[in-house]
Amino acid sequence: MTKLKMTVNPDNRKSHINKEIYGHFSEHLGRCIYNGFYVGEDSEISNKNGVRTDIIEALKEIKIPVLRWPGGCFADEYHWKDGIGEKSQRKKMINTNWGGVVEDNSFGTHEFMNMCEELGCEPYISGNVGSGTVQELSEWIEYMTFDGVSPMAELRRKNGREKPWKLKYLGIGNENWGCGGNMRPEYYADVYKRFQTFCKNYSGNELYKIACGPNASDYHWTDVLMANINSWQARAISLHYYTMPGDWNSKGSATDFTTEAYYRTIFRTRFIEDMIIRHAEIMSKHDRDHRIGIAVDEWGGWYDVEPGTNPGFLYQQNTMRDAIVAAVNLNIFNEHSDRVVMANIAQCVNVLQSVILTEGEKLVLTPTYFVFKLFRDHQDATLVDSYIEPYNIGNEGEKFQAVTKSVSVDQNGDMLITLANCSIDEDIDLDISTGSFTASDVSAQILTGEVHAHNTFDSPKNVEAVEYQGVKLDSNSVSVCLPKCSVVSIKLKKQ
Ligand code: AHR
Repeated sequence: MTKLKMTVNPDNRKSHINKEIYGHFSEHLGRCIYNGFYVGEDSEISNKNGVRTDIIEALKEIKIPVLRWPGGCFADEYHWKDGIGEKSQRKKMINTNWGGVVEDNSFGTHEFMNMCEELGCEPYISGNVGSGTVQELSEWIEYMTFDGVSPMAELRRKNGREKPWKLKYLGIGNENWGCGGNMRPEYYADVYKRFQTFCKNYSGNELYKIACGPNASDYHWTDVLMANINSWQARAISLHYYTMPGDWNSKGSATDFTTEAYYRTIFRTRFIEDMIIRHAEIMSKHDRDHRIGIAVDEWGGWYDVEPGTNPGFLYQQNTMRDAIVAAVNLNIFNEHSDRVVMANIAQCVNVLQSVILTEGEKLVLTPTYFVFKLFRDHQDATLVDSYIEPYNIGNEGEKFQAVTKSVSVDQNGDMLITLANCSIDEDIDLDISTGSFTASDVSAQILTGEVHAHNTFDSPKNVEAVEYQGVKLDSNSVSVCLPKCSVVSIKLKKQ
């Protein structure tokens, strides 16, 4: 069996891991909102104000910190005033991006903001820049956050909400290089500045504005955007990157894939680290004090839809491969938390790499869900330096480090080590030295299974995180066996 050494340097404290790195994304797409989160108040499925209670409980369990809405591409066609007031009077529209279905606007601003309050998470609103107006976005902010006397605050009160909500995160446009208007970065930068000028801070609410950043490795977009905006105008720029084992026309099956496709998926997932590093370098040229962060507000695996489902609904299954994809991404985001201020997996329920799948009243938690559970305690902890000796695996010409990791220390001084063994045919023994950190106790959890293993509505508990005994503590060192295709979290109690 391969044996590797890992060193943790707890005295080298690196950066704060914003809890928002563990964020989620919910779009009016397929069954994410309707027949996903939202079943309506009259549904027989247990709900609170129309939102499924089982989803609320599951997301609270992983401490969901932030939820992005209403898109995605949908955001740049969304007119918020269509989604307020008496439901029967709300306008119906066509969701042109996603399946051409009728959007009845029964889930709108009140439903979303109240749902975030119920979940205990920050709302992240993605504003319409592509087909909306400055006035429309400006009034939306006024509607949600103003406590005084104004036309929009009165309208909100008339619609049943006396006090404003708190809104921190505001995205000004989505993918404006693509579905959000096919703009050039020079043009978008000007449009961004105009829109953001009229998004005001009302009644003590402080907006954290996020500009539309690059598509994956479009470094030119980052360069031009950063040359034209400053940290007064934007706190972060977004980055979108999806992992596909194939290409846009044939992405590959979510459940039926070869070993080669598996390793390609992980190889391509790891590419996000190179992108973060290069985008950050370009950003530093224009923003020497690193005041502007990166919000990876769409990430995850994107495969062909499940056979027999609407191609516009992007519904896919979720296997142990996705658990590894999630663990690799989250470890990378932690390691770059000096720059990565937020990340939102796409998407939370029933779309792309979901943590939850539903069918009628049934609900399954996916392998990806359990990764968020294992990594939960990194939220708002401090990243500390760590190193694993190199051991590469993968396809010819596409090799990468077999084990990914990140280590943090929380406010009590306890340490969390998260690891993924990306090999699907080899267990790996890891000897971890924790340096000056002396532990009094150790506990661990594991998520493992055959790489194609997944949970179904008939068999919802095939893959679950469980307590793990394969860890031995010897005050300043820990040894752990990482079974092939596994994600392990180790919690060390400070002595
Ligand atoms: O998440 C699905 C879509 O992917 C989003 O609507 C869009 O922003 C991206 O291209």
